[in-house]
Amino acid sequence: MSSFPAYRPRRLRRTAALRKLVRETVLAPSQLVLPLFVRAGTGVRVPVASMPGVAQTSVDEMIKDARDAASLSVGGVLLFGIPEHKDEEGSSAWDDNGPVQEAVRALKRELPELVVITDVCMCEYTSHGHCGVLRDGEVDNDATLELLVKESLSHARAGADVVAPSDMMDGRVGAIRRALDENGFAQTAILSYSAKYASACYGPFREAAESTPQSGDRRGYQMDVANAEEAVRETRLDIEEGADMVMVKPAGPFLDIISRVKAETGYPLAAYQVSGEFAMIHAAAERGWIDLDRAMMESLLGIRRAGADIVITYFAREAAKRCP
Ligand code: PBG
Ligand code: ZN
Repeated sequence: MSSFPAYRPRRLRRTAALRKLVRETVLAPSQLVLPLFVRAGTGVRVPVASMPGVAQTSVDEMIKDARDAASLSVGGVLLFGIPEHKDEEGSSAWDDNGPVQEAVRALKRELPELVVITDVCMCEYTSHGHCGVLRDGEVDNDATLELLVKESLSHARAGADVVAPSDMMDGRVGAIRRALDENGFAQTAILSYSAKYASACYGPFREAAESTPQSGDRRGYQMDVANAEEAVRETRLDIEEGADMVMVKPAGPFLDIISRVKAETGYPLAAYQVSGEFAMIHAAAERGWIDLDRAMMESLLGIRRAGADIVITYFAREAAKRCP
């Protein structure tokens, strides 16, 4: 009889080469998407205080960041716009000469290999900062759909590969799909923010995008963080309405949701490591409490291991440099 124990898991952990040989999950630069904040002007670069290394930039500066990302083989960029003018219905969102539209055209011209995804929402464009139009203090779902359609069509006209509605209105994926098809954009894909939670982790983003609601919060349209079944239901609905890819957001506190949504739908799944997750890692590292690079790679690998195919992260460039 052989000596106890027959199976010693440590045997395969002895050397870096052995560990690499049996590694189950990989993180590749092509799976990463870098969010970018675009505003009007030239030569503009306004750092975001709560997000080290992240800035609002004009299109010419944005191209530099995107070129850097492309040279590191980062798969794509996700564009957010900061308009010069905000109003009650967010009409700048469908301005064909707005910062996002200009950025899309510049990216498709100069870096055609990079996937260009545009965030579709009203909160950056409305004076009140909500993700849709208000009626009697509430976001009016069906009236908002028309505005999201106009915004999506404007992004598609500019040449976006993918539009990504993040508003959480009911029926928006179907409305956008129909409008794209009817207007000759059958090839424009939809990445739906299908399971987007009303999270505490969006604070730094709202500073970056200047999109903090002036009153109330987003709990009337974003998901309750306690719910998992609902995430599967929301995602199925978006798939039925025509979503090509789906999303779980935030990522780190919702790894169980990533795992379930992937297992139950089998659809291409993106997970968004949001601004607060990024800021928390930076803040702890700044105090010397954790190692920035290791914590970054561990957080991203965890998201991939849970089942995400695509990881949207402000760390995209730094992580791409450290992918094996
Ligand atoms: C817009 C939008 C938000 C984020 C992505 N799209 C903010 C929000 O819903 O308040 C958050 C991204 C992040 O925190 O990094 N609806
Ligand atoms: Zn919004």
